[in-house]
Amino acid sequence: MIIRAAEDADNEALAAIYGHHVLHGLGTFEEIPPSAEEMGRRRAAVQAAGLPYLLAEDAGQILGFAYAGPFRLRAAYRYTVEDSVYIAPDAIGRGVGRAVLSAVLGACEAAGIRQVVAVIGDSGNAASIGLHRSLGFEPAGVGRSFGFKHDRWVDIVWMQKALNGGDTRAPDAPGLTLSGG
Ligand SMILES: CC(C)(COP(=O)(O)OP(=O)(O)OC[C@H]1O[C@@H](n2cnc3c(N)ncnc32)[C@H](O)[C@@H]1OP(=O)(O)O)[C@@H](O)C(=O)NCCC(=O)NCCS
Repeated sequence: MIIRAAEDADNEALAAIYGHHVLHGLGTFEEIPPSAEEMGRRRAAVQAAGLPYLLAEDAGQILGFAYAGPFRLRAAYRYTVEDSVYIAPDAIGRGVGRAVLSAVLGACEAAGIRQVVAVIGDSGNAASIGLHRSLGFEPAGVGRSFGFKHDRWVDIVWMQKALNGGDTRAPDAPGLTLSGG
């Protein structure tokens, strides 16, 4: 298995993986699968911000992807990112999520990020909560019934992981360039 940056040629495969979880899961609150072109636009925006958008590939088959995007666009959020990770249904539970999300965290550390936030759809999402916990994320609260999907109210679970010393020292890098003032 290799981990590499996603590119235009991967748009269809990533849209298929994400679309499955949009339609069948609660990990994302999106309800209509985005097109391959839209996946590409979103990926390019992440990469243009200097942040990682990576995938795991084995023998030419794309097994999953993870990325870190700006958490919010107001300027003071410039040291915080939100991660996302989605694995192909037939590759779940084989260490792919750990591998690709670990690589994203490494790239965020290199970019000078201080906090990584996971906003996990569904308090019953044991796989995502377990994956984040195993990579050192700590619980940061629950938003009760913030979503309504698949005919029921759905929580979000917040988790966070400090990088580069977190809040123990002042910033020593410029942080993200954000558009929200
Ligand atoms: C959540 C998800 C990304 C995890 O990826 P994965 O490749 O299946 O996870 P891994 O095999 O790398 O597991 C890594 C660790 O996560 C934890 N974990 C994984 N699945 C778990 C489960 N069902 N229950 C509890 N812990 C679990 C374990 O600690 C595991 O380490 P271990 O194998 O040493 O025990 C994947 O299941 C997925 O795509 N789910 C649907 C979409 C989703 O919810 N994405 C997250 C949105 S926030």
